[in-house]
Amino acid sequence: MRDSAEHPVSELLTPEARTTLDGSGYGSWRRLATADAVSLAFGFPYPDSFRLDRLRESIETVLASEGRQALQYGGGEYADLLESAVRNRATARGIDPDETAVLLTNGATHAVDSVCRAFLEPGDVVAVERPTFMGSLTVFRNFGVEIEELPVDDAGLDVDALADRLHARRAAGDPIPKLLYTITDFQNPTGTTLSRKGRERLLALADEFDFAVVEDGAYTDLRYEGETVPPLAALDDAGRVIRVESFAKTIAPGVRLGWLVAAEPIRDAIDALAAGGANTFTRSVIGHYCDAGHLEASLPPLREAYAARRDRLLDALERHMPASATWTDPDGGFFVWVELDESVDTDDRLDDAIDAGVTYLPGSMFYADPDAGSNALRLSFSYADPDAFDDAIAALATVVD
Ligand SMILES: Cc1ncc(COP(=O)(O)O)c(C=O)c1O
Repeated sequence: MRDSAEHPVSELLTPEARTTLDGSGYGSWRRLATADAVSLAFGFPYPDSFRLDRLRESIETVLASEGRQALQYGGGEYADLLESAVRNRATARGIDPDETAVLLTNGATHAVDSVCRAFLEPGDVVAVERPTFMGSLTVFRNFGVEIEELPVDDAGLDVDALADRLHARRAAGDPIPKLLYTITDFQNPTGTTLSRKGRERLLALADEFDFAVVEDGAYTDLRYEGETVPPLAALDDAGRVIRVESFAKTIAPGVRLGWLVAAEPIRDAIDALAAGGANTFTRSVIGHYCDAGHLEASLPPLREAYAARRDRLLDALERHMPASATWTDPDGGFFVWVELDESVDTDDRLDDAIDAGVTYLPGSMFYADPDAGSNALRLSFSYADPDAFDDAIAALATVVD
């Protein structure tokens, strides 16, 4: 296979596509995917979390009761059940069902992409956390927007810094972000959660400066301790919040199902631009799965398993990491964010780590700023065998010391 940069047609690719292919993140990604090492790199659910028995039951029920209709464009009645299941989940989170509407998508990332399609033009500004989920950064980059990065502290997005930045932009006559993207619960990659007070202040700023908020709740169902904080979408009286969620972490990424909840005119605008059709068969299967109570029943054991994984990773870090290292202690989600001595470059050390038998994601992948995050890394406790964590972190410690 020829390198894409040498291929004659690659000249025709967009500047955004070429930038992504040339970036160091893309190369690291490919190396990591094939590495023979304990994988602490990716936020994959562990394979035994997939309820094959329940999924099989749902597939068989849908086929037995709807037959070929379930496989047609549009699907059958089970496909419609999913929307009510999602609506019920939103209502249970305190989101007003009379003020919002639901749009099913092929995952949370697809939902973010669909929002961008409706709102963004090249040159617009999108505000994000610094660091943030690299999948969403890629989506924003694809739209040719300016990315404004805002700091994250132990309590998630630093809302004071956001206020300062907005006031500075207004004073300088610079454009105000159209969208602010935030992962409010167990942020990827830092694991931090925005407080209720922070959420209320953020919504007041959205009103004052007139921007929309994309709230990514990919991990909201995976809280292992502490009090639930109401989502921005539940605190929002002005219809500024578009909340995206996914079944990727609670059922399986391969079902490619997520959704967004937004004020009805916003949902309609996003829906009007949607292309590609709906995966109605998968919707039917997951509609049955939710209606039969399988999702609700699976959540407590899932939380217990992930909490135990988190604790084992934190224990291993405590035991092995050098004194100069610090890391987060998340109440939920999949990730621990590790910061190392300034002199350590985690992009440079990745090959040594793979040779030593462990993988991680270098911190630089989570920033739009190409010079940021070089002394940080993200570890995921979601996928690898927890019995391997201790040796893996011992190996990591030798590489980053
Ligand atoms: C914050 C966040 N949003 C979205 C996703 C992806 O969700 P989906 O697989 O539904 O696109 C992830 C998964 O890694 C994530 O961490």
